[in-house]
Amino acid sequence: MRRSVLAGVGGYLPDRILTNTELAGRVETSDEWITERTGIRQRHIAADDQKTSDLAIHAARAALANARMDASEIDLIVLATATPDLTFPATAARVQAALGITQGAAFDIQAVCSGFIFALATADNSLVRGQAKNALVIGAETFSRILDWTDRGTCVLFGDGAGAVVLRAEDVNDGRGVIATFLRTDGRHHDLLYVDGGPSQTQTVGHLRMIGNAVFRQAVEHISGAMIEACRLGNVSLDDIDWFVPHQANQRILDGVARRLQISPDKIITTVARHGNTSAASVPLALNTGVSDGRVKAGDLVLMEALGGGLTWGAALVRL
Ligand code: ACO
Repeated sequence: MRRSVLAGVGGYLPDRILTNTELAGRVETSDEWITERTGIRQRHIAADDQKTSDLAIHAARAALANARMDASEIDLIVLATATPDLTFPATAARVQAALGITQGAAFDIQAVCSGFIFALATADNSLVRGQAKNALVIGAETFSRILDWTDRGTCVLFGDGAGAVVLRAEDVNDGRGVIATFLRTDGRHHDLLYVDGGPSQTQTVGHLRMIGNAVFRQAVEHISGAMIEACRLGNVSLDDIDWFVPHQANQRILDGVARRLQISPDKIITTVARHGNTSAASVPLALNTGVSDGRVKAGDLVLMEALGGGLTWGAALVRL
């Protein structure tokens, strides 16, 4: 059976760390409020001269090293971002050039915090159809550039970072690879979480706006639904999952989903305290953490999931 096998994973967080206490010096908030309501303790912020592509290149190189593959073997790059370097061309094109890749296709996907799941599904479809053999799937963001740093309701939640995986098309008979993906969008909720700028509407970049408590309710419901759907498509039960690797938005969303689906917290990879919500980067960053620290191992059944602006949501079931 032709499958997209996960050959490597990598992540990158910028050096600069912004703590809750430091943030409390800028807006009316406190370490206690942020920790209690979100679980976030700190976030990483890109240096002034670091673009989304720079973060993506670091993560891609780490994933290639982990896969023991050379960039020249890659013939597809799908990069998920809501904070591209430029309006166009795609940030993926810049990453492709920086890695010295001169074959195949490279393009961006825009599904905000669900972007990595959408990118993984897109790359998987290409690999299984034989359009490409080896794909880099990247989630990379510099949300610090679109935050309103005077809005305490949003600026405390997000951070910058990048994560990447290498997918390799292989004929397998041991169940490895991407088993099922589930993607959804409901555009009726586009104004719950959006950026109030853009080339067509305002000719500006704009700032992130969010109705947090409404997003919270949608997140718990749709993330739970997506996880159940991906399991149904993959013909497995939630009990069969070895590791849940969720989008890291907020500890309370993770806890709410775990309660609703009766999942043990011991099976959930949680990194939100360390880097906040890094949007499309957060799922591969969490996967990288789980693989690097030895918890997520070859043969494990992993369920990744996310919800983001759009609203978009989805899940991906993968056996490592
Ligand atoms: N520090 C102190 N007080 C704050 C802060 C802050 N950083 N932010 C908001 N408040 C205040 C509000 O002004 C409000 O004060 P008021 O009662 O005097 O009006 C009070 O706290 C309660 O505000 P709510 O918005 O109702 O607070 P809530 O308990 O819902 O927590 C939060 C806000 C953390 C944003 C929550 O709604 C949430 O986590 N939502 C999910 C949003 C999310 O994670 N989005 C990320 C993108 S989507 C995704 O990735 C899934």
